[in-house]
Amino acid sequence: VSRPPSGDPRRVALAGLRRVRQGAFANLAMPDLLARSGLDRRDRALATELVYGTLRMQRACDWLVGRHLGRQVEPVVADALRLGAYQLAFMGTAPHAAVSQTVSVVPARARPLVNAVLRRVAEGLPAAWPDEATRLSYPDWVVEHLCADLGRERALAALEQMNRPTPAPARPDGYVQDRASRWVAELALAGEAPRRRVLDMCAGPGGKATAMASGGASEVVAADRRLARVRLVEENARRLGLQRVRLVAADGRASPYRPGSFDRVLVDAPCSGLGVLGRRPDSRWRVCPEDVGSLAALQRQLVEAGLGCLHPGGVLTYSVCTLTLDETLRVDEALAEDHPEAVALEPPGPPWEPLGRGALLLPQARGTDGMYVLRLALGEGRAGG
Ligand SMILES: C[S@@+](CC[C@H](N)C(=O)[O-])C[C@H]1O[C@@H](n2cnc3c(N)ncnc32)[C@H](O)[C@@H]1O
Repeated sequence: VSRPPSGDPRRVALAGLRRVRQGAFANLAMPDLLARSGLDRRDRALATELVYGTLRMQRACDWLVGRHLGRQVEPVVADALRLGAYQLAFMGTAPHAAVSQTVSVVPARARPLVNAVLRRVAEGLPAAWPDEATRLSYPDWVVEHLCADLGRERALAALEQMNRPTPAPARPDGYVQDRASRWVAELALAGEAPRRRVLDMCAGPGGKATAMASGGASEVVAADRRLARVRLVEENARRLGLQRVRLVAADGRASPYRPGSFDRVLVDAPCSGLGVLGRRPDSRWRVCPEDVGSLAALQRQLVEAGLGCLHPGGVLTYSVCTLTLDETLRVDEALAEDHPEAVALEPPGPPWEPLGRGALLLPQARGTDGMYVLRLALGEGRAGG
């Protein structure tokens, strides 16, 4: 473990960028670095903004820098150039401050180069971007995929919005959760059908499971394929003093539950996450186009298994925090075709917009995460399966 960097938010930010470059997840690396940094609250917030912002805007920053750098540089220098470019182009930091403070945290041998390149970046602003994917700093495939699925204008607005995410608000019980996720947890319990026994098939880390346990369910069986995620649900339920959460480590597709034993099922499925790219700053560089199709197949299998767990008259809620048609509309279409016993319930109204038999929430509609939701009621007297 390297020595904790201290004293300067930019030095801490550089250490954070190095850890992510070496494979760490930003949202796991930063709390640990900050805890050992000796920075006060304000400087911790600045270090976090520097790291998250630089990671989000990495492609745009690389384009700004690359034009003045005719050669490869060592990784720590590349990180510092991105960090400086981010402050210049996206934080509105005064050029002399952004340049001199960034120069002061790089190794002495690289200072003349970093100084010269960042000065030229500052002189070249505002930038004449070559294309939208560079300006908005997303991989080409993400921009192309969402433009094809949502229409260009709506896709670009969603991508813009995810570059300036707002912090998730705290619930009355203190758990921090985006409003879109709260709405999904409320929808999963809404309506006349009984809601005594609820299965949350993909529950980790427990945001929706804990919301449902304190929101009217008599019992929530919180399951997840990964034991580490089940442990997170356990910690969260214990911290919130919730007694009615039962924990299960299980793959939802190989259901260990008695058929027909739940009144409600929530399948908050693993997805490509293209509706939450702001909140997870490095995820846009990790997700790949091939993921979309394989996740859509998994989502469908999980919903089908979930229908089998429902009592007749029960309601299944399917949700994903993404915006691709493969993982939303096309999952719905396949279910409509293969499961006539599952009847769609009225989707939520604005700010949600209808999509198939469900509804889509675009991030720009209310400044929330992007989300899709579909509710299916299992006809009385018919078992799912
Ligand atoms: C979108 S997250 C769930 C978020 C959670 N519902 C919340 O509100 O905090 C999806 C979860 O599905 C889990 N998962 C992935 N494949 C699964 C499977 N085959 N069966 C059950 N859970 C699975 C992942 O481990 C992950 O924790």
